[in-house]
Amino acid sequence: MRVGVLTGGGDCPGLNAVIRAVVRKGVKVHGFDFVGYREGWKGPLEGLTMELGIEQCRGILPRGGTILGSSRTNPFKLDNGVERIKDNLAKDGVDALVAIGGEDTLGVATRLADLGVNVVGVPKTIDNDLSGTDFTFGFDTAVNIATEAIDRLHTTAESHHRVLVVEVMGRHAGWIALHSGIAGGASMVLIPEQPFDIEDVCTKVKDRFRSKYAPIVVVSEGAVPMEGGEMTLVSGEKDAFGHVRLGGIGDRIAAEIEQRTGAEARAVVLGHIQRGGTPTAFDRWLATRFGLQAIDAVAEGDYGKMMALRGTRIDRVPLIEGTGELKLVSDEEYAEAQVFFG
Ligand code: F6P
Repeated sequence: MRVGVLTGGGDCPGLNAVIRAVVRKGVKVHGFDFVGYREGWKGPLEGLTMELGIEQCRGILPRGGTILGSSRTNPFKLDNGVERIKDNLAKDGVDALVAIGGEDTLGVATRLADLGVNVVGVPKTIDNDLSGTDFTFGFDTAVNIATEAIDRLHTTAESHHRVLVVEVMGRHAGWIALHSGIAGGASMVLIPEQPFDIEDVCTKVKDRFRSKYAPIVVVSEGAVPMEGGEMTLVSGEKDAFGHVRLGGIGDRIAAEIEQRTGAEARAVVLGHIQRGGTPTAFDRWLATRFGLQAIDAVAEGDYGKMMALRGTRIDRVPLIEGTGELKLVSDEEYAEAQVFFG
């Protein structure tokens, strides 16, 4: 059997660990051979391939990024996209595909599975917003990077009696802000699921200054103020999946805090630092186990499934369970962080 592998969407730490596990078990246990599709769905769409075997996977376990490359290509937005993918898979002699991606890449996989393509999905995203799985890989690494940044920002904020606003990734879901904010002892965590009142933020900032500590406000890039209720955009331009580029909410909040409280406030944007570099041990473990289960699903012909962490088990769920609806932070989970605000 010949299996194609691709990684799509924003990269995240652990992609290479999945590829390695898929290939190692595929070759050693199932006797499969592989073709690597480069740059997400652009690979099978345009016939961009690379050799993929045990040799190509040596040494990649701790490496960030993806040896296959990635893109945000949406075949459903292109003329004859699906036919071109089907033709190229047939031309390459590929019987099944392992697609590693987030809501967009696996959204495409869900639709292709309905159209008869033999595909299994592995959930990746630092945002942790895919349903059906307790965690996606990449999230733990992003949270650790953000937490370390918050720890460092505490000491400099205290030395200068400044407010520091830390902008983290999270377009629709505030998981990174919530987990790193709790772990890092933030004075306030602002997430897309809970529109914030800037006056309330300023009250909490003043409260924190009454202690000997300085306020750290952690904000997801997709957070929205109650007043004016709009996301803060870098540009209005949309990608192939209709997403605008977010950014700037940290600066906006810092400026408001300065103006309303008189305290000096600065913003720090963590950006792609959260997505780059070596994965944590947890993400390597999760990515590896997802990869092992994905190639077993292929071997069993169990297509149209997404790998899912449930407790400590790796289960398979229908792709639509992962991609149908985003997994958002609930009111109860947000309330846990609120105990520490101010
Ligand atoms: O989906 C993952 C993610 O990192 C989001 O948190 C973020 O909004 C987006 O990707 C940024 O994408 P890009 O690197 O393409 O600007």
